[in-house]
Amino acid sequence: MRLVLILCLVTSVFCATSQEWKSRSIYQVLTDRFAKSTSGTARCLDLNDYCGGSYKALTKKLDYIKDMGFNAIWISPIPHNFPKGYHGYWADDLTRMNEHFGTEKELLELVKRAHLKDIWVMVDVVGNHMFHDFIDQIIPFNKSEHYHSCDVCPRSCQIEDWSNQQQVEDCKLSNMPDLNQTHPYVRDTLKSWVKDVVDKYKFDGIRIDTVLEVPKWFWGEYVQSAGVFAMGEVANSDLSYVSGYQSPLGTMPSVLSYPLYYTMVNVFAYGHSMYELRDSFNAYVKSFGDVDVLGTFLDCHDQPRFLSFNRDHKLYENGLVTVMLSSGIPVVYYGTEQYFDGGHDPWNREDMWRSDYNTKSDMYKYIKALNWARDRGQVWKYMQVERYVDDHFYAFTRGQVLVATTNVGSGGPKIERHITYHPYREGDRLCNIFWPTDCITVWQNELQVVLNSGEAKVYLLT
Ligand SMILES: *[C@@H]1O[C@H](CO)[C@@H](O)[C@H](O)[C@H]1NC(C)=O
Ligand SMILES: *[C@@H]1O[C@H](CO)[C@@H](O)[C@H](O)[C@H]1NC(C)=O
Repeated sequence: MRLVLILCLVTSVFCATSQEWKSRSIYQVLTDRFAKSTSGTARCLDLNDYCGGSYKALTKKLDYIKDMGFNAIWISPIPHNFPKGYHGYWADDLTRMNEHFGTEKELLELVKRAHLKDIWVMVDVVGNHMFHDFIDQIIPFNKSEHYHSCDVCPRSCQIEDWSNQQQVEDCKLSNMPDLNQTHPYVRDTLKSWVKDVVDKYKFDGIRIDTVLEVPKWFWGEYVQSAGVFAMGEVANSDLSYVSGYQSPLGTMPSVLSYPLYYTMVNVFAYGHSMYELRDSFNAYVKSFGDVDVLGTFLDCHDQPRFLSFNRDHKLYENGLVTVMLSSGIPVVYYGTEQYFDGGHDPWNREDMWRSDYNTKSDMYKYIKALNWARDRGQVWKYMQVERYVDDHFYAFTRGQVLVATTNVGSGGPKIERHITYHPYREGDRLCNIFWPTDCITVWQNELQVVLNSGEAKVYLLT
C-alpha cells in the first residue's frame, strides 16, 4: 500500500487508491457491445463475433453513463486478439491494440474525456493465458517454454478438477496456452507490460481476469507493478477460498464479490430465506480484511443475466438495491438499466444499441436514484448495520440511510415490519427516495416500514 502511494506521487498527479475507490460506482461495459460508430438500433446478428463497438463511440456515450450516476467504467482488455476475440480475452499480441476497438489515440482520448467528467477508467487485464493455434505466432511469448508443460495435467491438458489448485494453476482453461509465470521472461514481461499500459493510458484501476488460475505470489508482484487499484476475478462461491486472495492475507486490494453474488441469486431469484443474505454478510465481515472495497455485482458478462433466472422486476430491484447500498463498490453490468435478460454467454452479451440508450427506462431512473442515495448518504463511510431480518425481510442502515428489502416478488403479500433497533431519534422523519411523499416518522422509538407488491425502499433522513 505504501509503495503504491509513493509510485502515485512520483509518476502522476492523478492516482486513485483503494480508499478513494470505495466512493466510486462502476458501470461495466464490453467495449465491443456498448456503442458503435454507425447509427441505428438493429441488433447485432452474431453475438459470437465482433459487433462493432469502439472507444470512439463509447466516448460519445459517457454522458449516458454519467447521468445514471456512475463515476467509473470497466472496459474490455485492450490487446490484439485472435479472430473472433470480441470479448478481449484471447490476446495473441500484447504489443498491438485490438484494432476493432480503435487506435491508441482513440483510447487515450476516451480516458481523457472520462477524466474530464470525473469518470475513472478500470481496464480488464489478463495474465493467465494467451490464445492462438500456433504458439510461435504469439507475441511476445512465442516459445513453448513460456507456457506450462502438460506434465502435471490430465491427458487433455485441461483443468478438469477445479478442487485441485495445482491443476487449476498449471493446466489449460478452454484450451488456451497457459502462461508459466515462474519463467523469468514471462514474469518480467507481464509485469512491465501492465505498468506500461497503466502509465500510458492513465488508467485508474485494473480488473484482473482468472485470478484463481495463477499463483498468489505472482499477483502480488503484478499488482505492485501496475501501481493502481486492482479488483480480481476469483469466480468461486466458497467464501474462505475467495477471501484468501484479498490482501493483507492474499495479494490484491479487492476481489469481485462472487460468494455474495450466488447468495443474492438464491435469495432474490429463487426465493431462499433472507436469513441466507444476512448470514452471508456476517460471514463476509469475519472472512475478508476489508468488505468496503469488494466489487458487488448481480450481473456480469460471465453469468446468465438475473432476469433470465427470474423475470420479476421487483425482485431485480431488490437485488440492485442490495448491490448499490450494501458494503462494497457496486459494479453494474451494461444493459441492466434496459432490462436485458440474456442467458448464458454469448446471450448475456447483447449489443447495447438495440435499447437506443433509453434514459426514460424505469430501471435507468431507478439506478440513478440509487447512485444519488449512495452519494447523498456517503454510505461508504459507514458500516452496514442489520436492523431487522426474517425469512422475507431484511433491513439495514449505512449511516443515516435505511434500506428495506424483500424477496416476496411483485405478486407477494404486503410486508409490514416495526423496526425498534435503529440510529434515529424520536420524531425523526425519513422519506423514500423512490416516492418522496412516502415518509415515516420515529414514534415511540418505532419505525413502521410497509413494502407493497414486493418493492424495496430506501429511506433518507429529511
Ligand atoms: C520469437 O520472437 C523473437 C522476438 O520477437 C524472435 O526473435 C524469434 O525469432 C521468435 N521465435 C519464433 C520461433 O518465432
Ligand atoms: C515453469 O517454468 C519454470 C522456470 O522456467 C520451470 O522450472 C517449471 O518446470 C515450469 N513449469 C511447468 C509446469 O512447465
